[in-house]
Amino acid sequence: MTTSVRIPLMAANWKMHLSIAEGVAFIAKLHELLGNPQDREVLIAPPFTHLWPLREPMAAAGFSLAAQNCHWETQGAFTGEVSLTMIAETGCRYVIVGHSERRHIFGESDAWIGRKTAAALSRGVVPIVCIGEKIEEREAGLTEEVLRRQLTAGLEGLRVDTPEKLVIAYEPVWAIGTGRTATPGQAQDAHAFVRGWLAQRFDKAVANGIRILYGGSVKPDNVDDLMAQPDIDGALVGGASLQADSFARIVQYKKSGKSP
Ligand code: PGA
Repeated sequence: MTTSVRIPLMAANWKMHLSIAEGVAFIAKLHELLGNPQDREVLIAPPFTHLWPLREPMAAAGFSLAAQNCHWETQGAFTGEVSLTMIAETGCRYVIVGHSERRHIFGESDAWIGRKTAAALSRGVVPIVCIGEKIEEREAGLTEEVLRRQLTAGLEGLRVDTPEKLVIAYEPVWAIGTGRTATPGQAQDAHAFVRGWLAQRFDKAVANGIRILYGGSVKPDNVDDLMAQPDIDGALVGGASLQADSFARIVQYKKSGKSP
């Protein structure tokens, strides 16, 4: 499979961390450490309250802004929710959809995630659709079945005609925030499965161009081996994205055998 068209996407998911002032300082430091990388895309997903104030520093640094969640309706009586129209207005190019914390702490269903993905695509915001199995599902040999179910529901009825419009993040639930990473081989197997599923669902060229990120305890000391896998096109990083120097090292993964 060709990897040449897939620009690596190195994404920070801040979750419910950092103040706005800390975010501004982080962006300045990250920019200083990275300069303007031409061969990879740097993305930060801060809390909703930070999107507007971080918009200009992010754009000036050449980083992409993402929301961590969204609602599928444009507007309405949905207390506490934020629509994609509002998200787009803050300068976001991306939105994370179906993160495992949304699924497992907040009870989001596959069907909701499908609606969010469809709404993001229709509003021109690129969805980063998160999928991943729990430890008991992996141990029962159900990993592919779970991924198939989440992909089918999450992407139901969608048309994706160019690969830049969609990003998938494979995040095994047992590896998120636990310090326990999937081995590069386990991650590659899951990514190859996802790529195969995409090739059946969409045009093969589109499937080959869609970026599939790995997430789950990505750190400076494991990113190189993960990024060396042929179907891993980037990382979605939680804990290790909260310090600019640690995230900068992740963005600057060493290209052992794989050039972007
Ligand atoms: P982690 O989180 O890097 O802290 O495991 C990843 C994620 O939740 O996206």
